Amino acid sequence: MDNSKFYETMYKRKSIRKYDMSPLDDRTLSDIKSFISNLNPLVSGIKTDLQVISQNDVKSFMSIKAPHYVVVFSENKDGYLTNVGFMLQQLDLYLSANGLGACWQGMAKPAKEIVSKSELEFVIMLAFGKPTESLYRSDRSEFKRNSIEAIRDKADFDELLEAVRIAPSATNSQPWHFDIEGNKLYANCIKLNPIKALIMEKMNKIDMGIGLCHLSIAAKHSGKEVKFLLNETATYTAPKGYFNIGNVEID
Ligand SMILES: Cc1cc2nc3c(=O)[nH]c(=O)nc-3n(C[C@H](O)[C@H](O)[C@H](O)COP(=O)(O)O)c2cc1C
Repeated sequence: MDNSKFYETMYKRKSIRKYDMSPLDDRTLSDIKSFISNLNPLVSGIKTDLQVISQNDVKSFMSIKAPHYVVVFSENKDGYLTNVGFMLQQLDLYLSANGLGACWQGMAKPAKEIVSKSELEFVIMLAFGKPTESLYRSDRSEFKRNSIEAIRDKADFDELLEAVRIAPSATNSQPWHFDIEGNKLYANCIKLNPIKALIMEKMNKIDMGIGLCHLSIAAKHSGKEVKFLLNETATYTAPKGYFNIGNVEID
């Protein structure tokens, strides 16, 4: 899909929680599978496996009812959760751009047989199908999000960071904060107390990848290149209440 289509969709998408339960036709499903096989990773060298499954293959009562789901498995390596967020958000936008609804599912799990068949770690699912509610926001003001000032230390890249600001995140937690130094953006994630961290740290690392997916689409839209490096910056310390997950160079 064209970057301008991703860009336009980013600013109107929303999570869809009501679906027509009839399965999508074979042609549509095969287009989705072929899009999945071409997703761009954020971190290279991490094995992932994305499978399309149906309602019958989903275990949890914690999931919304949808005719289809994508299940993501990944090798557990440095940056893998953020990498999954970055990859699956491309699919969220693709589905929305093509008239289909999607919703990230942080609590849902696929059936045991599906999990045991994979040699990789189960990470997360995305529900999708034909929406029976409105697919898009009619106005950008409908994004309930923190202000731009709350997510960065200075205003140098606001055009790009606006795309992160409106990105989806688990329980709308918006865990991102950026420190800017020249063309370098330090990507920081909120630090939680140990109890909250049990569930939410995993989600927040995925959220960071979703934010970085939006950032890279916005950068491309302005004719810029984005390079992501996992936290290799021994000299940098994240602000109090955050931990650094890596940094982005914009050229
Ligand atoms: C990692 C992740 C997990 C999520 N888990 C759930 C979930 O279990 N159930 C649900 O209804 N929505 C879930 N969501 C959707 C968020 O609640 C939603 O993205 C957020 O409230 C912002 O709304 P929007 O997507 O409509 O912009 C999840 C989103 C993300 C990114």
